[in-house]
Amino acid sequence: LDNADVVAEWAARFVLQRVTQFAPGPGRHFVLGLPTGGTPLGMYRKLIQFYKEGKISFKYVKTFNMDEYVGLPRDHPESYHYYMWNEFFKHVDIEPGNAHVLDGNAPDLVAECQRFEDLIQEAGGVHLFIGGIGPDGHIAFNEPGSSLVSRTRVKTLAYDTLEANKRFFGNDISKVPRQALTVGVGTVMDAKEVMILITGVHKSLALAKAVEEGVNHMWTVSAFQQHAQTLFVCDEDATLELR
Ligand code: F6R
Repeated sequence: LDNADVVAEWAARFVLQRVTQFAPGPGRHFVLGLPTGGTPLGMYRKLIQFYKEGKISFKYVKTFNMDEYVGLPRDHPESYHYYMWNEFFKHVDIEPGNAHVLDGNAPDLVAECQRFEDLIQEAGGVHLFIGGIGPDGHIAFNEPGSSLVSRTRVKTLAYDTLEANKRFFGNDISKVPRQALTVGVGTVMDAKEVMILITGVHKSLALAKAVEEGVNHMWTVSAFQQHAQTLFVCDEDATLELR
């Protein structure tokens, strides 16, 4: 697609179509996996607009976020919990109990990750997992070298990710949390459908590695070549390195 704005609109329309086609209702929830970061912001804004125009309801939608930093208070402006409530959830009619974000302050982080996996199972699995990728090809916080069958777990962030995310922490890398809870590649691979949003020239090498070379755990997003229904929604800039 031409640019990031068109990607945002396209992605939001795709969600609208999938949710309305499914026709959620009492006891019949559509299950959505969601990312944070800069890339999906435009999509969230469009979805809020569609909600306000009465085109979509989230009353019978359950959401599972990909990841959360370890140790940031919930109300810290850079926590993914805060991001999701501020940028999306509080503007739509989702039931708070249906909006799941990993708790990076849980006393037992390993148990928290298992609880998250169990909740996804109980919800009947994810219908549509939306993701973003880092310039190093990470999906969620599955950094280069992560197992391609990994499940939700505690992960130490790669230096490149700390670098990429320091812009959200006053450009001070020492303020970026060193660890995160993240769904595994296997967790996302279990979704019926996956949509990955990729915009900007800084993601172009990752996109080329994702789709034009072999499946490789050093570019974890490449695992989705082996997923039955994955869509990469990209702008022109992101396609620069494609052959
Ligand atoms: C966010 C996430 C990350 C981001 C990725 C790209 O929940 O899991 O994988 O999608 O780091 O971030 P942006 O969109 O800020 O370039």
